[in-house]
Amino acid sequence: MHEPVLLREVIQFLNIKKDGRYVDATLGLGGHAEAILKELGDHGRLLGLDVDPGSLVRAEHRLQPFGNRSNTRRSNFRGLQGVLRENGWGGIDGLLADLGISSYQLEDPKRGLTFQAEGPLDMRLDPESSRNVLTVLGTMDEEELRNLLHEFGEMRFAWKLARAISRAFSEGRLKTTRDLALLCEVTVRGRGKVHPATRVFLALRAKVNDELGALSALLEQIPQVLEVGGRAVIISFHSLEDRLVKQGFLRFEKEGWGERRFIRVTRKPVGPAEDEIRRNPRARSAKLRVLERVA
Ligand SMILES: C[S@@+](CC[C@H](N)C(=O)[O-])C[C@H]1O[C@@H](n2cnc3c(N)ncnc32)[C@H](O)[C@@H]1O
Repeated sequence: MHEPVLLREVIQFLNIKKDGRYVDATLGLGGHAEAILKELGDHGRLLGLDVDPGSLVRAEHRLQPFGNRSNTRRSNFRGLQGVLRENGWGGIDGLLADLGISSYQLEDPKRGLTFQAEGPLDMRLDPESSRNVLTVLGTMDEEELRNLLHEFGEMRFAWKLARAISRAFSEGRLKTTRDLALLCEVTVRGRGKVHPATRVFLALRAKVNDELGALSALLEQIPQVLEVGGRAVIISFHSLEDRLVKQGFLRFEKEGWGERRFIRVTRKPVGPAEDEIRRNPRARSAKLRVLERVA
């Protein structure tokens, strides 16, 4: 089974209290959650959230041995405070968010998250969402698409790709992930180290799932839910996410939240050690940041 990213660091930084209340906001396959639960005593509790029902089923199976110490909820982490209320929790001692998608999602061609296999242009993490790649492309003009690609780091060819994609979409030539991947290839000829579709897929996935919007909404709730001594650990995989986390945590440290005070436990983002990158290439771009409520 696929190895959770920065596992040792997550456990170390969460500084787990045996009888504490913890939230894993991105349960996925439950790898981090399992490790957190192993640190908890009989009165400790973990609540895991995910928007993806398929992931929840797998995680629930994995976490069964922990009985009622573990609980899961199908929810977007945007709704964190509502979920805590429903669960009867006023505050929490720690929160983990391991952003993005799991290998289980990436490797399922039916979800359209990878350009390496033929699949529908879908990319939804939440199957009940009404937006997929095709509906999103239907609402964006060429300029909006160019700005999106540019924002996600497709600097040199954003305009070329945006034009090609807009045109192909309006002519009905984009049906599958392969169509889009091939279009990116022929538009940006002469491959560099990264496939030209990589950033296009990343940008569209982020748009379809409003990933930056959800992260901002989560960040705003963190100061309101952490108990004194409680920590939030966030792992991001691209610079736009990491920038939001960095700026959010810096603001909480400087301004606090009402009477509440926070410190950044990490000034610089923590990345994987060499041996982890060797074992798990997905970890390569992971950046972990930690905030603690001190009073
Ligand atoms: C990188 S995986 C987490 C892997 C997990 N830490 C593990 O050890 O197996 C990220 C998970 O977060 C979920 N996710 C992404 N955005 C979400 C959101 N806004 N709310 C809730 N879950 C989300 C995805 O469906 C995916 O299962």
